[in-house]
Amino acid sequence: MNGTGRAAVLAGAGAWLPPQVVTNHDLSLRLDTSDAWIRQRTGIAERRVAAPGTATSDLAVEAARQALKSAGTASVDAVVLTTTTPDRLCPATAPEVAARLGLGTVPAFDVAAVCTGFLYALAVSAGLIAAGTADRVLVIAAEVYSSIIDPNDRGTAVIFGDGAGAVVLRAGSADEPGALGPVVLGSDGELGHLIQIPAGGSRQRKSGLPPAPGDEFFRMAGREVFRNAVERMTAVCREAAEAVGWEPGNVDRLAAHQANSRILQAVADRLGIEGGQVLSHIERVGNTGAASLPLLLADSAAHGRLSPGDRVLLTAFGGGLTWGAATVVWPRLHIESPIRNEV
Ligand code: UT7
Repeated sequence: MNGTGRAAVLAGAGAWLPPQVVTNHDLSLRLDTSDAWIRQRTGIAERRVAAPGTATSDLAVEAARQALKSAGTASVDAVVLTTTTPDRLCPATAPEVAARLGLGTVPAFDVAAVCTGFLYALAVSAGLIAAGTADRVLVIAAEVYSSIIDPNDRGTAVIFGDGAGAVVLRAGSADEPGALGPVVLGSDGELGHLIQIPAGGSRQRKSGLPPAPGDEFFRMAGREVFRNAVERMTAVCREAAEAVGWEPGNVDRLAAHQANSRILQAVADRLGIEGGQVLSHIERVGNTGAASLPLLLADSAAHGRLSPGDRVLLTAFGGGLTWGAATVVWPRLHIESPIRNEV
């Protein structure tokens, strides 16, 4: 896989959250739900929501600026962006983001893997580095879930939030801190129907007819997704850890997609990882899709919950279905907290 023997090394990270906070209480005023139910079943207390008119690229640009600053660079050789909420169906969101960041005419494209998008984008970016196509890649994950969530669906409206995270990868060697271990990925399209937006693509065409009611919204079969998420993340974490000779139960930190605190706990329990090693800020930001992992990493590092030398196991799961895991020894980075516009 690694044609040139060059590893992808984490050189910077950043994240951004829109300032508007929506609490469980706010949701309970318009949905048949309660703060107690949401906290108990998901671990979420509040999430951020982008202002009307704010698009995914707007969040992506902010997070990317933080990551470039953290990496101490103003230029990269490629931009890989992942999102479930692109600004438009066509073209991809990455070229606009690259242009707005002043990165010139570098290759820029989107990768789609729903909530696993960041790990897929990392794998693709590491491949660009290994192949010698790029020395430095900006990887961005940004989501405006509020643009695809049915505000009346209590099964999704209480979980998802908006946000963005980004990292800069540079060419380096496999034995230095920040070097990514092999990214292990998987998918099962036979279960694609468990998470989908039925309308808006070529299957349900916009041929002058409006979509069937509700089909333009994000839908999730929560209970089945939950079960699959636990099984897949547990298994893929074992594979990624084994690939670098780590015992999953001995890692310093588990950084898992912030899907639901009960999912995080179930995965950690199965892997033998103690609660104190599990990074989580789901209470404050909810499930931010593909942005979840880089947001979690940036926030955890900024607040000292992730330290240089920590052996970190990363994992995610999402629509497709898709899943993935990777390992990294956390490097010394300067990262600003994305949760600074406190209320
Ligand atoms: O990011 C991509 C991957 N996503 C995930 O991994 C999310 C996975 N799924 C989940 O996090 C959970 O399945 C949910 C949080 C979506 C739902 O939690 P659950 O514990 O699986 O609940 P459930 O769907 O089994 O529903 C239990 C009960 C039902 O009522 P009955 O049938 O027992 O009377 C639901 O109607 O809870 C009800 N319910 C709610 N009640 C209050 C469902 N949503 C809500 C709500 N407030 N928001």
